[in-house]
Amino acid sequence: MLLLGIETSCDDTATAIVRDGTNVLSNVSTNQDEFHARYGGIVPEIASRRHTALLSAAIEDALDRANTSLEDLDGIAVTSGPGLIGSLVVGVAAAKALAFGIEKPLYAVNHLHGHIFAAFLDDAETPRYPFLALLVSGGHSQLVAVESPLEMRILGKTRDDAAGEAFDKTARLLGLPYPGGPQLDALAREGDPNAIRFPRHRPDPGTLDLSFSGLKTSVRYFLESDRGKNARPADVAASFQAAVVDMLIDRLNRVITQERFELAVLSGGVAANSALQRAFRAWGERNGIPTVVPPLRYCTDNAAMIAAAADRQGEAVRSDPETLSANPNLPFIFPQISGE
Ligand code: KG4
Ligand code: ZN
Repeated sequence: MLLLGIETSCDDTATAIVRDGTNVLSNVSTNQDEFHARYGGIVPEIASRRHTALLSAAIEDALDRANTSLEDLDGIAVTSGPGLIGSLVVGVAAAKALAFGIEKPLYAVNHLHGHIFAAFLDDAETPRYPFLALLVSGGHSQLVAVESPLEMRILGKTRDDAAGEAFDKTARLLGLPYPGGPQLDALAREGDPNAIRFPRHRPDPGTLDLSFSGLKTSVRYFLESDRGKNARPADVAASFQAAVVDMLIDRLNRVITQERFELAVLSGGVAANSALQRAFRAWGERNGIPTVVPPLRYCTDNAAMIAAAADRQGEAVRSDPETLSANPNLPFIFPQISGE
């Protein structure tokens, strides 16, 4: 199947052409950071207006770069949720109009399923089920058991901040510009991860939950203390990052005492983090589990991953171009599969 993917759930206006859920013919993404940076975070109203301004050109761009045209497509895949409602509706409206116009199927994709199937783009690896996905983004942090493209179980998730949110908030405490995750990652490279021992959240018995808000608060208290005022920012960044990575690896260790997986994938924007990538790969090697970390362009929000998920999920996510609506709270689990 040759699909056009459209992703506008947050602040990236992204389009892509993907063949058979893996072969990326084009991947276009216009980042809006410069419009949000001065506010220190994403302003939903601005994001929605930017999507409106950019999306048509981004669709044309994806088609041009892939050397293809609307008539050649087998369908349109769009993120229908979760995300910012004002952002989602722009992509959904465009996808509905296109699918209706060219009389081709429309696929409504869950943004988080997209992140999971990003791992298999460009034939990086073939999915082998069941696999484990550690999904860490600006909005979500969860461990998922993937039994098939349509059967996924959330094994544990964050009780408060998402991992990316923790990075962004801590970066802000360190005076780094928005979005802070990549900046903190760069600063941490100059620092000592053992300089400060920040607390690691431990899950309640019987759960694999995560929590990052305590860690962020302890960084704040530390920075306000006398010792903190004299500390090197790079050491604080590296020590914070080490605590996040430790917590994530701890959950991976716990999960494999309970279940067996053929493969483990890291996904979401925080998968771009260099220390996390290293630790994740080393964890896989220690435990004999093959790991996949998508390249940066597929870790952060992109539309190729949306086309990838649509291709693998097929008819189950086929939607009506006349009635599809964006759902900012789209549930992770398919209601029709789980029987809820
Ligand atoms: O997946 P994503 O692009 O958007 C969401 O769906 O949320 O993730 C964005 C998040 C931001 O919080 C950003 O700071 C974080 O990913 N991020 C990083 C790095 N690159 C992006 N966090 C830590 N280290 C990085 N290198
Ligand atoms: Zn995302």
